[in-house]
Amino acid sequence: MQPLLSRAIDGYLDDLAAAEISDPVLTDMERRASELGFPIVGRAAGRFLEWIAGLAGASRVVELGSGYGYSAYFFARAVGEAGEAGEVVCTDGDPDNAELAEAYLRRAELWDRIDFRVGDALTAFAAVEDPVDIVYCDIDKDGYPDAWAAAAQRLPVGGLFICDNVLWYGRVAGVAPEEQDPQVAAAQDAVTPAIRAMTREITDDPRYATTLVPIRDGLLVARRIA
Ligand SMILES: C[S@@+](CC[C@H](N)C(=O)[O-])C[C@H]1O[C@@H](n2cnc3c(N)ncnc32)[C@H](O)[C@@H]1O
Repeated sequence: MQPLLSRAIDGYLDDLAAAEISDPVLTDMERRASELGFPIVGRAAGRFLEWIAGLAGASRVVELGSGYGYSAYFFARAVGEAGEAGEVVCTDGDPDNAELAEAYLRRAELWDRIDFRVGDALTAFAAVEDPVDIVYCDIDKDGYPDAWAAAAQRLPVGGLFICDNVLWYGRVAGVAPEEQDPQVAAAQDAVTPAIRAMTREITDDPRYATTLVPIRDGLLVARRIA
């Protein structure tokens, strides 16, 4: 994807984050994404997810849209930080992604912290029992408002709702990426209102204190305060 920051700055942030974890499993996952054009969150944002989950002392994370487990890799490291048995509940509609995630995360010795549920993410989320410390949303963008609605009333005070792609290549601010396939551009345009609506709803919600971190394609972090 065309980065919002310049390629040089994006690369600089990824390189700094890459220096912190040297794991051939992670580089294999990144190679797959690059070869197949699969939209993983990337190294700098992944390390941010791990860092903030550690800061929040999270022991249970629910991911909505896990792909083949790249973002879950970072959350799984964070929930094990305190030496306690934390858990990451992964969800994805594609069973092949679940198989790939198991293969990668077993190799990384993180699979024992993962509960991977195949099917619709919001249906799976509804069946997850409390406690849930973090909900991480990365599903199809037209599903964002419903994801927020489901998470907002579930999270406890201190819990985090984190959502990827909230800058949506700049489209939320009326900026369009250069040199884009017109069909891709139209598809992105079609879901921009859903991302904007969700973001506005969250920032207006007095139960949550919200910030938007412009790493890669923008990560929204909303912390429940009331
Ligand atoms: C952007 S990718 C996830 C990437 C992953 N979070 C990472 O950074 O490694 C989105 C994934 O969500 C899945 N997905 C999209 N909408 C979904 C839904 N409503 N329910 C379940 N899975 C969904 C897709 O199959 C895809 O694998």
